[in-house]
Amino acid sequence: MSHPSSDASRGNAAPVIRLQSVQKSFALPSGEVFDAVQSLSLDIHQGDVFGLIGKSGAGKSTLLRLINLLERPDAGKVFVGGRDLTTLSRSELRDTRQNIGMIFQQFNLLQNATVFDNVAFPLKIHGRHSKAEIDARVRECLALVGLAEKIDTYPAQLSGGQKQRVAIARALAPRPQVLLCDEPTSALDTETTRALLETLRDINQKIGVTIVIVTHELSVVEVLCRNVAILEKGRLIEQFAVDAPGPERKTALGREIDELVRRRERDVREARESAAPGASLNLNAQEPAYV
Ligand SMILES: Nc1ncnc2c1ncn2[C@@H]1O[C@H](COP(=O)(O)OP(=O)(O)O)[C@@H](O)[C@H]1O
Ligand SMILES: [Mg+2]
Repeated sequence: MSHPSSDASRGNAAPVIRLQSVQKSFALPSGEVFDAVQSLSLDIHQGDVFGLIGKSGAGKSTLLRLINLLERPDAGKVFVGGRDLTTLSRSELRDTRQNIGMIFQQFNLLQNATVFDNVAFPLKIHGRHSKAEIDARVRECLALVGLAEKIDTYPAQLSGGQKQRVAIARALAPRPQVLLCDEPTSALDTETTRALLETLRDINQKIGVTIVIVTHELSVVEVLCRNVAILEKGRLIEQFAVDAPGPERKTALGREIDELVRRRERDVREARESAAPGASLNLNAQEPAYV
């Protein structure tokens, strides 16, 4: 399976996301300090689909929330689109966040608002767009996620997969460069997960938005991601290109991803061979069957 490509367009361009030695600790009720993310550096390039994986409690969500400064790092710098978010004023940060969409496991839609109003919300609060512009952009985003016909529906009338599509449309409405996804398929069944991952892949290819996805499902990484980073106890342990099984991974998760990729490649090869037996050996040998 081919993965969304970014190499051709990115050249030596600066990464769209750069975390420089970021650190985040939480004070626990016991009075102890817990280091959720420890001196972590990471570059993510424009157009990439980047997976963050690790066990529960490894610091994945905290790391994702550092990218849009929902969590402010205790130390280190967070660059998005070349700007260091840690130096921005409150209003500059609000503007810059238009460049960073986010979706969550539980969708976080406004229950009392229609699909139209949910997707229009980030455009309306910004107050910079005319009514006609908002209308056109909402329709465009709903078409992108395949939900054009649900525009006047309320969230309660939608399936889980459809709710997550509305959340994606809402996140994309302000035309962000980056889409952050925190376990976006964890509340969905296998079939719906597959369809949603296809939508995310499609969006990445069509509009080139950079996707960073936190997940505990290795199949999500295998199907969707070009690159992956593995977190343990707030540290980045290893990082690699998903489609290039390496000689030796440091982590069990890394080895499992390699195994999934190899199995997929084997399946594709076998399916090809059984569809056209002998095709790769001697085509002429097949001819008598057709005369
Ligand atoms: N606001 C907070 N206050 C205290 N501890 C927190 C807070 N947010 C996260 N943590 C702790 O930090 C660790 C990492 O959390 P999180 O980033 O949510 O992990 P993950 O998403 O990998 O499961 C967990 O042990 C969690 O309990
Ligand atoms: Mg989490």
